[in-house]
Amino acid sequence: MSTRNLGRSTFGDPGNAGNLLTIEEAHTLLNDWVPNEKLRLHMKQVAANMKAWATEKEKADEQTALKWELAGLLHDADWEKYPDDHCRIIVEELERRNIDSDVIHCIASHGPKVFGVEPVNNMDKMIYAIDELSGFIHAVALIRPTLYDGLEVKSVMKRLKTPSFAAQVSREDITDALSRIDITLEELIQFIIDHQKTVV
Ligand SMILES: [Fe+2]
Repeated sequence: MSTRNLGRSTFGDPGNAGNLLTIEEAHTLLNDWVPNEKLRLHMKQVAANMKAWATEKEKADEQTALKWELAGLLHDADWEKYPDDHCRIIVEELERRNIDSDVIHCIASHGPKVFGVEPVNNMDKMIYAIDELSGFIHAVALIRPTLYDGLEVKSVMKRLKTPSFAAQVSREDITDALSRIDITLEELIQFIIDHQKTVV
């Protein structure tokens, strides 16, 4: 049986600091690697949330915000074609391209229990928290006739307490991720609704 545990905790070369893909290059990679439009949308939504968090909450400069955005945009890039080796393939591709190690570590830590990589900095912790919740909130929006229009935090909270709804989303991971950051679940849900509703 394959394991997706990456078996290491350092990624990339610190000497590559500041070496980033452009957003256009990242979209090209995404389009090449991910035929599934819904999966691409998920990554674009996570990217929008990550970029917004970096600029609004962390007051990050443009280059740092680009790192957050790239990590969001590429975190599941290998999921569709290499499900058994998900994460390892994209991590190795970005290492081959000499990309900034912060971006690679962030991608590697977006599922600590699966990939065996602990989130270290705020970027790592936020991708872990945003990833599952973003997909969950989108699932809630999709069952509403008006999608995101009028979607309230309490509706998302109610669905979270319904184990059969989007059962593949780990409530345990969401709780674990939230325990590592200084924001309430309700606040993060509102933030995600506000920032991913216009992503198409
Ligand atoms: Fe994801």
